[in-house]
Amino acid sequence: MSGGAAGHDEIARAVEELRAGRPVGLPTETVYGLAADAENPEAVGEIYRIKGRPPGHPLIVHLADGASLDGWCSEVPDEATALAEALWPGPLSLVLLRGPRAIDAVCGAHSTVAVRVPDHPVAQAVLREFGGGLAAPSANRFGKVSPTSAADVGADLGDAVGVILDGGDSVVGVESTIVELSDEPRLLRPGGVPVELIESVLGRSLMGPDGPSRAPGMLASHYAPDVPIRLVTADEAPAIIARFDDDGRAAGVIGPRALEIPGSGTRLGVTDDEPETARRLYRWLRDADAADIDVVVAVLPSDTGLGRAVRDRLAKAAAPRPDPG
Ligand code: TXA
Ligand code: MG
Repeated sequence: MSGGAAGHDEIARAVEELRAGRPVGLPTETVYGLAADAENPEAVGEIYRIKGRPPGHPLIVHLADGASLDGWCSEVPDEATALAEALWPGPLSLVLLRGPRAIDAVCGAHSTVAVRVPDHPVAQAVLREFGGGLAAPSANRFGKVSPTSAADVGADLGDAVGVILDGGDSVVGVESTIVELSDEPRLLRPGGVPVELIESVLGRSLMGPDGPSRAPGMLASHYAPDVPIRLVTADEAPAIIARFDDDGRAAGVIGPRALEIPGSGTRLGVTDDEPETARRLYRWLRDADAADIDVVVAVLPSDTGLGRAVRDRLAKAAAPRPDPG
């Protein structure tokens, strides 16, 4: 853990800010969130303004526990109860039919709401003292790499956010897994809970997303550092790094420890252990922008366990970027 974890005075101050309608930087086990009162449309509007997030990207409502679902969703199917009992608090968001507390500012035009119970002592303390639900996207500017420390939030949004609580480095390091349960269980975003674990709780397979309407706001390009990223297999990596070197471009490499790195290539991160890779991935992507490199060469991990979320985030970081116009 880096930094000092927020104490009671800081938590009380954050709750005052939230009650006044001002968003705060909130540590969670996945990534840091930019949290606001989920029942106050002006406060939720501030989240969009500060992040530069386009409308039509619904937000996740964070609650203190599974017993607080009342009013947020209109119906809790048995499979949602089973997942909540097995995996909350934790890095799992459930998309359920919305109830009266889930306002349009949070859900947009959707008939559903995403809810999650974070597993972090500071987030839990804030939620308990605040008493309501907190809408919280990742606390980064839209499209950029999510923050995994209070210092990351300060670097991205420090000018716009008065209170940023420090809860140390995020231990999961990638966002929550999102599962929709308004009909057949469906994976909307791989994340901090492995799909295999969710399927073992449900006793059946998750379906995949079925088109853009199922995952509003999930764009091809996202989680992107400024430096370009090239995704490779371990076998092709050395030759590709050598070719960049021949062109006078220094590569920063994310891949297994055994990988041979030729020429001017340097190592950004080691991917031998999936949870550790997930935990540190966004740190490496931020390091890439600070390092003296021209390109990131990243070896994709296996598509199992947390490797699935890592692959998803790397693919989005490497996707063609929209023209900034
Ligand atoms: O780990 C996390 O989930 C972090 C931390 C801060 O809790 N939060 C997070 O929020 O990743 P955000 O806003 O970066 O991603 C939320 C995603 C949206 O892009 C959207 O695709 C999905 O959740 N989402 C939210 N409400 C939804 C809904 N009603 N139906 C389908 N997808 C929804
Ligand atoms: Mg985000």
